[in-house]
Amino acid sequence: MAEDYKNLVGGKWCDSESKRTFENRNPANWDEIVGVFPKSTAKDIEKAVAAAKKAFKTWKNVPVPKRGEILGRCGDIMVERKEELAKLETREMGKVIKETRGDVQEGIDTAYYAFGEGRRFFGITTPSELTEKICYTVRKPIGIAGLITPWNFPMAIPCWKVIPALLSGNTAVIKPASDTPATATKLVETLMEAGIPEGVINIVHGAGREVGEALLAHPDVGVISFTGSSEVGSRIAEVSGKTLKRVSLELGGKNAQIVMSDADLELATDGVLWGAFGTTGQRCTATSRLILDGKIYDTFIETLAERAKKIKIGNGLDELVEMGPVINSGQREIIHNYVQIGKKEGAKLVVGGEFYEEGECSKGWFYKPTIFADVKAGMRIEQEEIFGPVLSVIKFNTFEEAIAIMNDTKYGLSSSIYTKDVNIAMKAAEEIEAGITYINGPTIGAECHLPFGGVKNTGNGHREGGLAVYEIFTETKTIYVDYSGKLQKAQIDTTVEK
Ligand code: UN1
Repeated sequence: MAEDYKNLVGGKWCDSESKRTFENRNPANWDEIVGVFPKSTAKDIEKAVAAAKKAFKTWKNVPVPKRGEILGRCGDIMVERKEELAKLETREMGKVIKETRGDVQEGIDTAYYAFGEGRRFFGITTPSELTEKICYTVRKPIGIAGLITPWNFPMAIPCWKVIPALLSGNTAVIKPASDTPATATKLVETLMEAGIPEGVINIVHGAGREVGEALLAHPDVGVISFTGSSEVGSRIAEVSGKTLKRVSLELGGKNAQIVMSDADLELATDGVLWGAFGTTGQRCTATSRLILDGKIYDTFIETLAERAKKIKIGNGLDELVEMGPVINSGQREIIHNYVQIGKKEGAKLVVGGEFYEEGECSKGWFYKPTIFADVKAGMRIEQEEIFGPVLSVIKFNTFEEAIAIMNDTKYGLSSSIYTKDVNIAMKAAEEIEAGITYINGPTIGAECHLPFGGVKNTGNGHREGGLAVYEIFTETKTIYVDYSGKLQKAQIDTTVEK
């Protein structure tokens, strides 16, 4: 049965003032409607921002450890509901149940991290250049946070954003992706149940063009956090720039795994399969390029292709299924189109390259794990983000060449190298241009207490996760206390007497 979902504005669950709705369907079975959601407008955003503005007056004064306790309770409720949330998420997003359990777990981890951070929330104290004077910093909330979240991590990414935003004392309006609005709504319900006061968190469903743009343009919104494509990210920065908002962008990737011939090859094979085909390749961190040592090239590809063929595709609610569908038919067309481009560019299609339509799967947007060999640096399939289960394999002969191929992209999110040579591993960690480098691990699997983000067109310099995320959601205030009782002039009265 399709559930009827609402917006949450100022603590009240409500329809859009437009009275319009949209459906959210299961990508594994397009006949199944997961939920019906309000198709909101700029007017709904207006109300949500007004509610957030009102709530900010009191929320900002709640002590940070107390805010942390509420967020910790949210983590507890998510622990209780983990299975229910994971199942719903698989139905709306398609990824397999083991992975949606992991996605919910990432949300739980983020909530517990915030619970602890509430009792730290450190600033710095430092001596003054003058006597009888002390200097320190505190973190203050910005005000209203506009959070625009993607469909590939329907629980973890909203948690990455909303939990630190609220711990910092901001209030928030969240606009989740229209492909996965149910999970985000459940998160908001959980936050309310944990004790978040009315108006502190608001959720408004609808299209990016209408609802997202209204949020970006609203003068009362102080910070925007967005995860999605570099194209949309650039537009977000442009619109938000007009009202001088702080903007944090987590954008595309063209992540690569290097495999040196001395590596544990079985481990490297497991790593690339998980990195490329986990989440059906729909992670910003997904391995979309394999940079492979010429000495092991043919045999490694052969094993990889055999293993890729055996990946069990299907409805992610089946515990035995290893790879679910892609998110929607449009995305499947984009992926399939890239496969045609790869063929035309002269890459060798080793496995996959087609829809998967066996039995019940004909009702969903399934695509076979796809591997292209003999991909040359500079080809479009080697340069552009595909966001699907497509892996491009590029051959190298020297380590320097491998690093050059790795770095020759406009993105720089995640990266990986498999080798047993510690000198090579350390050089790679030094020279790879990316926000994240894994040694002997796949490109996916970031943990919530470490900085997450990338260089170049992957973002605009911010990091989510860990302590770094608090840089996004707080203003730093510097306080000077002069207890000398006299006028002391900085830069002028500082000469040390002989
Ligand atoms: C993303 O794809 O945007 O590191 C986030 C990972 C996950 C998060 C990915 N923990 O793969």
